[in-house]
Amino acid sequence: MKKIVALAHVMLAGLSACVVSPSHREHAPLDEQRVSAFADTINGKAVKLFTLRNKSGMAVEITNYGATLVSIHVPDKEGQVENVLLGYDDIKGYYTGKSYFGCVVGRYANRIAHATFKLDGKEYHLPQNDGMNSLHGGLNSIDKQVWDARIMNDAIRLTTVMKNGDNGYPGNVKLTVVYSLRSDNSLVIDYSATTDQSTVLNISNHAYFNLSGDPSNTILDHEIKINADAFTTVDSTLIPTGEIKKVAGTAFDFLSFKKIGKDIDQPDQQLIFGKGYDHNFVLNARSETIAAVEVMDKNSGRKMEVYTTQPGVQFYTGNFLNGSEKGRSVAYEQRTGFCLETQQFPDAPNQPQFPSTVLKPGETWKSQTIYRFSTSK
Ligand code: GLA
Repeated sequence: MKKIVALAHVMLAGLSACVVSPSHREHAPLDEQRVSAFADTINGKAVKLFTLRNKSGMAVEITNYGATLVSIHVPDKEGQVENVLLGYDDIKGYYTGKSYFGCVVGRYANRIAHATFKLDGKEYHLPQNDGMNSLHGGLNSIDKQVWDARIMNDAIRLTTVMKNGDNGYPGNVKLTVVYSLRSDNSLVIDYSATTDQSTVLNISNHAYFNLSGDPSNTILDHEIKINADAFTTVDSTLIPTGEIKKVAGTAFDFLSFKKIGKDIDQPDQQLIFGKGYDHNFVLNARSETIAAVEVMDKNSGRKMEVYTTQPGVQFYTGNFLNGSEKGRSVAYEQRTGFCLETQQFPDAPNQPQFPSTVLKPGETWKSQTIYRFSTSK
């Protein structure tokens, strides 16, 4: 059966000039060898690589392991299609990877101070996996689980359940992530979640982008514009201090396009704590029509716009990459990728002045983030 499916994929890949049904064409793999490099079974659950394609030449590979974005192939200004994501060459890389390449992070993306919080008078204790703090939901969280997957027309729907007590968090939470690809080269991520007990929730995607298409280049020459008048300052362990600081006049002012590298090495205490940018920006707009962030790589002519309904975005400049993780024959060095993790604010369960991250039974939490690609000469 496996052989027949594999053969069918090879045939579909070669059939671009022939008539194939749209759903087949939309999910044809980029490369048959990659499909087998990402095929596995964990505890009886199949791990697979899925591909979304559109008619404008964009293709997105996704695995149901960690609901992970494996690659995003988009054209440059000359029409050359290249992968703008950092990732590993096979599924094993994702099993052992420590940098959260492309995965969905939760139950609480980002940090919770001292790995503890109080909810409804009860104290909860989480694993300390980032010094004293808890990072990205703890150990073996949703980024290391096999999700259930369903292929839809131009989308993949992934679901998982975070069990009551998993990593110390209360409540059984059902989480759904839908990745859809639009014809205008937008990758849309729709998240939704419900719970059977009060809990805290912060869900994000941790994709690392390098718009040059060549991750041996750093991202320091990319230009970025972040529609945020303020950011949340952090202490030396990257926990918010509670201060919401205006960006004006600081290295954090990206209100107009500025090279990522322009101020990154300034002797600014916040940049020293982060080893570069690793901060939550307080977005001015939560909208499908006003960009939260825009990034341009002038050499390739690629541009990415980010739209989100979330209140914040973690701008992280790959400061902890150190060449120990590899993909596409490249060792990913410091600052060869940037993340724009749309999110609630870090440590909000301990900081009542931040927007609430509590989810109660009977409520449905929803959010949407769009990464839209285009080019200019
Ligand atoms: C997030 C954090 C960073 C780092 C990365 C993973 O973006 O804010 O500090 O932990 O995840 O390496």
